[in-house]
Amino acid sequence: MNLIFLGPPGAGKGTQAKITSEKYGIPQISTGDIFRKAVADQTELGKQAKAIMEKGELVPDNLTIELVKERLAKDDVKAGFILDGFPRTIEQAKALDNFAEIDAAINFEIDKEEIVRRLTGRRICSNCGAIYHITDFPPKVPGICDKCGGKLYQRDDDKPEAIEKRLAVYTKQTEPLITFYSSAGKLRNINSSINPETSEKQLIDIINSIKA
Ligand code: AP5
Ligand code: MG
Repeated sequence: MNLIFLGPPGAGKGTQAKITSEKYGIPQISTGDIFRKAVADQTELGKQAKAIMEKGELVPDNLTIELVKERLAKDDVKAGFILDGFPRTIEQAKALDNFAEIDAAINFEIDKEEIVRRLTGRRICSNCGAIYHITDFPPKVPGICDKCGGKLYQRDDDKPEAIEKRLAVYTKQTEPLITFYSSAGKLRNINSSINPETSEKQLIDIINSIKA
């Protein structure tokens, strides 16, 4: 089962990718997480990506495509994978078609006002990557992860100016993928504006229909 999670920033792709990954035993491949780790580890890739990400722009296609191609060559994707945040340009989508067969591109639909509210309140565990929201899904102890005790942090690109830029980049460069995957007969929409349980239920229905 090879899935793409497509949608604007803050739509809930990462939240659902973690749940789906654990439930079905297939890896979540988040290009954003991979880039953030590279930045934290100060690798060559991280040095190239840092300023681009802080501004809310996209890392160049050639770097991103190569990274995903290498990741999908590993053994753990044999039973399937979830691409969380890739592809996000038409060029990336066309490249992906050359090295992977996709079952469905799941499009997470959500209103813009809700995106801003979700992103400004998001906090992430620096150790295990668990995702919280300061009012909707707060940790039991402020600033500390319930699951592993790690310290929570706010992403550099979850500041208002970077959020605006990310939304503009999404509209210009990523939204055309909705038509791309619809034309390929692979697009499946979910309403991601209600709550995580409702998103999860819609996803399970889609996955069951793919497996049937
Ligand atoms: P990336 O990390 O992919 O960020 P993004 O696409 O902007 O999406 P987010 O991670 O912000 O949101 P999400 O949909 O995962 O939402 P989440 O589940 O966390 O990319 C970051 C950067 O890396 C890019 O800007 C770019 O620079 C670079 N990059 C990455 N991939 C690239 C590529 N392919 N090409 C080029 N550059 C690339 O949820 C958000 C909040 O909402 C949380 O607080 C959560 O608790 C809450 N929430 C989630 N679901 C719900 C729900 N259903 N109801 C209520 N609240 C919810
Ligand atoms: Mg994410």
